[in-house]
Amino acid sequence: MRQAGRYLPEYRNIRKNFSNFLEFCYNPEAACEVTIQPITRYGMSAAIIFSDILVIPDALGVDVKFSQGEGPILTPVTDISSLNKNNFKETLAPVYKAIEMTRKKLANDTALIGFCGLPWTLACYMIEGKGSRDFQAVRSVALKRKDFFNEMIDILTDSVIEHSLAQINSGAQVIQLFDSWAGVLSEQEFFNYSILPSKKITSAIKEKYPHVPVIGFPRLAGSKTLDYANHTSIDALSFDGSISLDFAKNELRQHVIPQGNLDSVLLAEDKDGAVRQTKKILETLGDKEFIFNLAHGILPHTPIDNVSAICDVIKNYER
Ligand code: CP3
Repeated sequence: MRQAGRYLPEYRNIRKNFSNFLEFCYNPEAACEVTIQPITRYGMSAAIIFSDILVIPDALGVDVKFSQGEGPILTPVTDISSLNKNNFKETLAPVYKAIEMTRKKLANDTALIGFCGLPWTLACYMIEGKGSRDFQAVRSVALKRKDFFNEMIDILTDSVIEHSLAQINSGAQVIQLFDSWAGVLSEQEFFNYSILPSKKITSAIKEKYPHVPVIGFPRLAGSKTLDYANHTSIDALSFDGSISLDFAKNELRQHVIPQGNLDSVLLAEDKDGAVRQTKKILETLGDKEFIFNLAHGILPHTPIDNVSAICDVIKNYER
């Protein structure tokens, strides 16, 4: 459950000790503690390490800040030579330490998921300097400054590979790759900037760690989700409301293990509706290998009771 902690009082209690969000991410003790909090409360079958996709630009020397209420703010990258890997390993070392600590503390049957943002989504933030509705600026750069943009995608692809391998080496048993802004891409761009880098990254992970499952998440990709499943050799695919449950069952499942897709607004606003939809998701996809998850990140105002209610349904589900 991405950006998950904010709805939990035990998270907010630790969060208040850090005015700087990245300092929180780079504090192994705090990161380990908040990673385990939801598992202690609800007993999910996997934990995702507390970190952020924007640690990669930070480790490449980009100035990254999180300001309250505005989301991430980065100094836009205009020149490839401003990116460097001089402090890459040192910057990310606390993430690896947090993974080591967390793996030791979690029960053996609780999987620990490491993660990275994918190159396209990282480039969105690095070029726009912040979130955007349609990411026009980065799409213009991709068209007008092809060499610069392709070089950036290549540097990010290598960085994601290095960060993924190091997370596995430290104890992550699964890697999830987030392409949060895949939904704004045209078919051709989607192939070049989402599918191809994902394929390279997945192959590099499989070459060194063939047993480690990789989950891809081309967010809001709609019908292109199937191309992603077909061409990347990922093991599992996180999907959202941009495809139907029937499509996930009849098409997606031919290629990958589906992960999804409860709507986070429904979960926050309507407990009974969320319970009904959870049952529907399980009835549609729970007869074979399946990972239950929300579609998008959990909302900060989600009542804890609503989450308990769906966890009970999932735990008691018998296929
Ligand atoms: O849920 C978890 O705790 C797992 C770790 C995790 C975080 N972010 C921690 C976080 C994960 C997997 C992410 C992924 C992430 N980060 C994405 C991909 C999400 C997706 O579903 O596609 C993106 C786009 C980011 C970048 C980012 N980080 C944004 C847009 C924000 C929100 C900023 C805001 O003010 O609304 C963050 C902050 C963030 N990352 C928080 C957490 C727990 C909230 C920080 C806080 O406590 O204030």
